[in-house]
Amino acid sequence: MSSKYHLVPEHGHGAADEDASESLLREDPVSCWKRWRPCLPHSALITIALVMYSIAICWVTRLALLRFHRPRVPAPTSSFPHPDEKQYLVTETGRGGHSWTRYLVYGEPGPEVDKAWYDLIKPFNTRVPAERYEATMGNRTSVRVEDGSDNPDYYVTLTVYHELHCLLRFRRFLDPQFYANKTWEEQAQDKSALGHYKHCLWSLLESVLCNGDTSMRTFHWDLAKPAPKPDSLAERKCVNWDWLHSWTTNHSFLLQDELLIHPVFGKLDANLRPFGRTETRM
Ligand SMILES: *[C@@H]1O[C@H](CO)[C@@H](O)[C@H](O)[C@H]1NC(C)=O
Ligand SMILES: *[C@@H]1O[C@H](CO)[C@@H](O)[C@H](O)[C@H]1NC(C)=O
Ligand SMILES: *[C@@H]1O[C@H](CO)[C@@H](O)[C@H](O)[C@H]1NC(C)=O
Repeated sequence: MSSKYHLVPEHGHGAADEDASESLLREDPVSCWKRWRPCLPHSALITIALVMYSIAICWVTRLALLRFHRPRVPAPTSSFPHPDEKQYLVTETGRGGHSWTRYLVYGEPGPEVDKAWYDLIKPFNTRVPAERYEATMGNRTSVRVEDGSDNPDYYVTLTVYHELHCLLRFRRFLDPQFYANKTWEEQAQDKSALGHYKHCLWSLLESVLCNGDTSMRTFHWDLAKPAPKPDSLAERKCVNWDWLHSWTTNHSFLLQDELLIHPVFGKLDANLRPFGRTETRM
């Protein structure tokens, strides 16, 4: 405003105060133009500089925001335990030698390896306190654990345990003679088992895509072969398995506990068969 208006010279003595105050704000286009014309290139330059400066500030701010405040996708609170409770560690996987995971896969099939797998999968049947379940699962329902309380726990299995169950099936698939008393050919003819393997493969595929692990894996040259050879070592952020396994164990039950009651078939035994109706195929 002030740059556009200027004081009009006084007309002389006796001018009314009213006139004076009016004239203070009277616009005079000609003299304004004359005054400002020499400054125009200068102010245009300043304006361009200010615009460029503003664009630069916006750009830098945007970069900083993207860098430091990338929108985080929170894990769904329907995870049990709550995602914020989960413990992680950075670890190196794929190291050769006698690791526990290698033993589960390469160990000679037998009672010892079976026991190791059983211990791994033992907390498959997880029970979630009703309040905790209802607070995060919305209107999705599940089977209840018939523990005799007014508001019984819900029966769930955590995705990682379903994946372990699938991996155990594939482990056993590799030794059909030992685990099923079948030859490879006999095993291949079992269409219902093959359907289950495909279900498991699909489930594992979805988990791999879901987790999208981007830890880098290296290659090395084998002087006897042209193709680069992949290495197994990878540094990764992993859930603290000991912690998670302990946590799940503390929230699990065994089928031997006979806590599942079917609305039609009644109480189920450790093989999920109704009592006294062992011939029933589930
Ligand atoms: C459950 O809730 C969702 C929205 O939260 C709704 O779209 C859906 O219809 C509900 N289902 C039932 C069975 O009430
Ligand atoms: C394995 O299968 C063969 C032939 O089907 C049968 O004779 C044998 O008894 C089975 N062995 C076991 C341990 O079930
Ligand atoms: C599981 O329960 C045991 C015994 O109460 C406890 O010492 C341990 O800390 C619990 N594990 C977790 C992960 O909370």
